[in-house]
Amino acid sequence: MRIDIITVLPELISSPFEASILKRAIEKGLVEVHFHNLRDYTDTKYRNVDDYQFGGGAGMVLMIEPIDKCITELKSQRDYDEVIYMTPDGTTLNQKIANTLSLVENIIILCGHYKGVDQRVRDAFITKEISIGDYVLSGGELGAAVLCDTIIRLLPGVLNDETSALTDTFQDGLLAPPVYTRPAEYKGMNVPNVLLSGNFGKIEEWRENKAFERTEKLRPDLL
Ligand code: ADE
Repeated sequence: MRIDIITVLPELISSPFEASILKRAIEKGLVEVHFHNLRDYTDTKYRNVDDYQFGGGAGMVLMIEPIDKCITELKSQRDYDEVIYMTPDGTTLNQKIANTLSLVENIIILCGHYKGVDQRVRDAFITKEISIGDYVLSGGELGAAVLCDTIIRLLPGVLNDETSALTDTFQDGLLAPPVYTRPAEYKGMNVPNVLLSGNFGKIEEWRENKAFERTEKLRPDLL
């Protein structure tokens, strides 16, 4: 998989890719992530990428020309399955969207800023608009990092234990059951006996029940 991220603030988004699972995925060659500074696609003196909105009103809008140049250049090099725009008015990200996107080859992610992008960018280039939740971030970069994390950890070979993404919260529509590790007793707090029993049938049954109980209590809307 290849992900191209278009941003006015590359420094805001690069660090999540420099640690832990995402770093390892890149090092193993399972994903390529490229950052493109929108300012590199302007020929104006001050490399400005935004302007006032027509009709008046507060806030700057990202202009179409540098975005067009960047996307057109990328598309001249390879085909893209999706051109995603990160925006609070997009479809809210969920596990199903992450699963679907983890199956494609090439993705462009455009990070919005200020008041957003010229609507013509959305009309002409964007195939999916994604929000990471009903709140407003200063820009799309943190959202893009979240989106990339959800996708990349699903790529085959990224997680050490191949099955562990399958048992994640949400993967089967339920919250994950509680987990414990050593010691079996800590200051009078005990790990449930069933988990120490070695009876894998019983353990599986216990986990399913707990996942259901937890979902019913915390996220009944998922049931
Ligand atoms: N940009 C600003 N707010 C956002 C959000 N909630 N999700 C994705 N991109 C955004």
